[in-house]
Amino acid sequence: MTKTFYITTPIYYPSGKLHIGSAYTTIACDVLARYKRMMNYDVFYLTGLDEHGQKIQQKAEEAGITPQEYVDGMAVGVKDLWQLLDISYDKFIRTTDDYHEKVVAQVFERLLEQGDIYLGEYSGWYSVSDEEFFTESQLAEVYRDEEGNVIGGVAPSGHEVELVSEESYFFKLSNYADRLTAFFKEHPEFIQPDGRMNEMLKNFIEPGLEDLAVSRTTFTWGVKVPSDPKHVVYVWIDALINYITALGYGQDEHGNFDLFWQNDENHEIIHMIGKDILRFHSIYWPIILMALDLPLPTRLVAHGWFVMKDGKMSKSKGNVIYPEMLVERFGLDPLRYYLMRSLPVGSDGTFTPEDYVARINYELANDLGNLLNRTVAMINKYFGGQVPKFEKYSHEEQVKMEDGSWETVYPPARTLELYSDATVSAYCKFMERVDFPKALDRVWSLINQANKYIDKTEPWKLGNTNNKSDIEKLEEVMSHLVASLRVIAYLIHPFMVKTSNKILDQLGMEKIDSKRKSKVNLFDGKKFLKFDNISPNLTVVSKGTPIFPRLDMDEEIAYIQSQMNAGKPQEKEWNPEEVDLKSEKDQIKFDDFDKVEIRVAEVKEVEKVEGSDKLLRFRLDAGDGEDRQILSGIAIFYPNEQELVGKKLQVVANLKPRKMMKKYVSQGMILSAEHDGKLTVLTVDPSVPNGSVIG
Ligand code: ME8
Ligand code: MG
Repeated sequence: MTKTFYITTPIYYPSGKLHIGSAYTTIACDVLARYKRMMNYDVFYLTGLDEHGQKIQQKAEEAGITPQEYVDGMAVGVKDLWQLLDISYDKFIRTTDDYHEKVVAQVFERLLEQGDIYLGEYSGWYSVSDEEFFTESQLAEVYRDEEGNVIGGVAPSGHEVELVSEESYFFKLSNYADRLTAFFKEHPEFIQPDGRMNEMLKNFIEPGLEDLAVSRTTFTWGVKVPSDPKHVVYVWIDALINYITALGYGQDEHGNFDLFWQNDENHEIIHMIGKDILRFHSIYWPIILMALDLPLPTRLVAHGWFVMKDGKMSKSKGNVIYPEMLVERFGLDPLRYYLMRSLPVGSDGTFTPEDYVARINYELANDLGNLLNRTVAMINKYFGGQVPKFEKYSHEEQVKMEDGSWETVYPPARTLELYSDATVSAYCKFMERVDFPKALDRVWSLINQANKYIDKTEPWKLGNTNNKSDIEKLEEVMSHLVASLRVIAYLIHPFMVKTSNKILDQLGMEKIDSKRKSKVNLFDGKKFLKFDNISPNLTVVSKGTPIFPRLDMDEEIAYIQSQMNAGKPQEKEWNPEEVDLKSEKDQIKFDDFDKVEIRVAEVKEVEKVEGSDKLLRFRLDAGDGEDRQILSGIAIFYPNEQELVGKKLQVVANLKPRKMMKKYVSQGMILSAEHDGKLTVLTVDPSVPNGSVIG
């Protein structure tokens, strides 16, 4: 019976360079994929990019290129990063891939036909950065005017929201609320860590699922709804479906889909995600799958965030950590190890340069590196590089205690063996729970036991005599150290592929190829990973090289800190003579600017436009004999619009007039300044006559 394991990362927004947060999730999935391949599973590991949506469109506009050019460029960088981090993905999906777009459109039409999706009107707060709608009560902060009306706010992620009002398609999630609740009750392990499922039930499902707006009309960068192409499919619907289109769902060739999209005792589907996107994966995604009559995933694993001492990572704080820098300076395996070991399951973890350097020095160079070095050096010294045959010379003894009872006492070699067996089974248990810190804690306990075993048996003393029993003891110590190092190399393999293979290589053992499915279950503690299962006639390398360098703590901490600060926008000293003639693509010629006629205009009258939350209608005196009418979308920023009467504003006077709200012609544009998501009109000193030309 083949066993399958389908593992996915979120598809990342390519809206900026990826930092250690996305590296964390991608490495975590890589660890699981390699672990399962080593256990003889058929593994499919998917990652990719979420390339549609308003945020991407905006980024492309800022860069002065098309969205497609923008995402094509970003995709190259992301693939390079995954190569640098040795990510063994089987497929890299991009939501702009043809096959994906085609199936998203099909799915949307099917849900429309089934009556799960209907056309309606949407009004709500939208965060472009999160590509997510919020109700007023979900906002972390709301901005109000003097009368208490909400005029803006901030999403829980810290990003500003904007008021969106548009025609939209809606998904009637409530159709599936009962089935979803029943599914949750039947599968208490569906969401990891425990407790999160209850949060979803209490906060979203029990209060009644609101219908979800699943299309947008205010931008175009997305999958068009075939039957109504002014709508593009909401980016989250587009994105979630990637998990099945990547396998071939909805296409002619769908071998991978039939094999991997199954959920039973031999087939697992795991979505690894950050805690911030659990709602999408635990509510919207299962409901989409139910509507499509497809099996649900086995498990969602929601991890916490890496934060910095001064809070979230942000460029302006100068505390962003990029993986490339850490790999360049310290190598790949310390990064993979650090990220996997130091983020506790389900909660946030703090990245500190001190901790990073300390873990390399103490845990990698000292604990693990020394164990290998000492072992290889002693086998060379005492046995000319030949690993002595593994034999159990000493056995447990029954010892009579002071109170007359008998107790079993294990000799050190046997203790180490028992410890190793227990470590393998505990490790596998924690790996299944995706508790990497605990799995690694166990491995390090075994490493420490092996180091203690050396201290306790004092092989350097045994090697100094010609006494036969001492030589036998020395043989026992060396073969047991090699046995423990073999187990350790296997257990760390999914985390530190290169280091694991270096250890095996130094011990004269075969390397592991975890990019391919193993023929046997390498983590079977009763067979393959049994402590004494080492082959005879092993030869260690004649000169072991340290697998990790020992670092100068202060110097390296200072280095990481300086790299973090380098990302911070610098304030340069101003020198009037150094200002140069830089020419950029989106600059205009003076003639172009000169075509624009900006004039001073006094507000004579202003009123709210009926049927619109945004628009104010102005009558203005722009000094050209006849008053002008201008409609401006600033109503939410001036709930007290009458305060504007008598003010002198700046208007673009030669803009082509256009009809708005079907009945008003707008003859120009009022200039305003944008700040913190708000708009403030630009006023002019009252002494300047109406109609004065600005320029
Ligand atoms: O949300 N530490 O993409 P995204 C750990 N496109 N994880 C972090 C992190 C940090 N400091 N910062 C971000 C999206 N993340 C959607 C996903 S899936 C169908 C669509 C994690 O690029 C975050 O929790 O904004 C999320 O899981 C992932 O990075 C992608 O974030
Ligand atoms: Mg996000």
